[in-house]
Amino acid sequence: MLDVIYGGRVMLMNRIEKAAVNSPVRRALQRFYEVPALMKLAGGPLAPGARAVEIGCGSGYGTRMILDRFRAANVDALDLDPGMVAKARRRLVDRPGRVRLQVGDATDLKAAFGAADGSYDAAFDFAIIHHIPDWRSGVAEIARVLKPGGVFVFDEVTAHALARPSYRHLFDHPEHDRFTAQDFLAELPRHGLAVTGAFTRISGDYLLGAARKQDLGRG
Ligand SMILES: C[S@@+](CC[C@H](N)C(=O)[O-])C[C@H]1O[C@@H](n2cnc3c(N)ncnc32)[C@H](O)[C@@H]1O
Repeated sequence: MLDVIYGGRVMLMNRIEKAAVNSPVRRALQRFYEVPALMKLAGGPLAPGARAVEIGCGSGYGTRMILDRFRAANVDALDLDPGMVAKARRRLVDRPGRVRLQVGDATDLKAAFGAADGSYDAAFDFAIIHHIPDWRSGVAEIARVLKPGGVFVFDEVTAHALARPSYRHLFDHPEHDRFTAQDFLAELPRHGLAVTGAFTRISGDYLLGAARKQDLGRG
């Protein structure tokens, strides 16, 4: 068994996926394709002083993008895998005071950062929610910690990709109740997140998008 399951609620990457995620190819894809596309979907950089949270930060490359490209003032970033958090710490050593890194579960940001409701201006999901067995609880937690008007930026791997022989043979993911792009987009409004833009690529394998937390107090 290469994968590790904690209490049936979470699942880490196996060694093959770790190698893929930590490769220069992944970083180049993120830097030159995903981040520019997500910036457009999110309506450009964040407002000055913006506080961001990143779930499943992996080696911290996306965290750098959130600081440098999205121009967040501060980022709270977490990952379930202590090895990945250690890599992220090394990558972000030159950003003291702007990044808090924690080992923790994306479905409980209170435990990791003491995050109260409405704590963040932006939340980032670079390909992690499909790893959460109860993925809807990941969406719910993002919605909880976003301020009204806050943006949720997501880049996800759908059930369509996870069903491909390459994914099934090489990687370990939760097998039940995975989402299509339509499922994911339909879940967001249930948590007060209004989709502002989204598209899929590679025949629906990947979903990129942005959503805004609605101010439910306003008519
Ligand atoms: C496919 S990798 C993506 C890493 C990085 N965001 C990127 O885009 O390269 C998914 C990451 O999510 C982490 N992860 C999985 N389940 C998690 C959970 N419940 N809470 C926090 N992190 C989780 C894994 O350890 C892994 O680092």
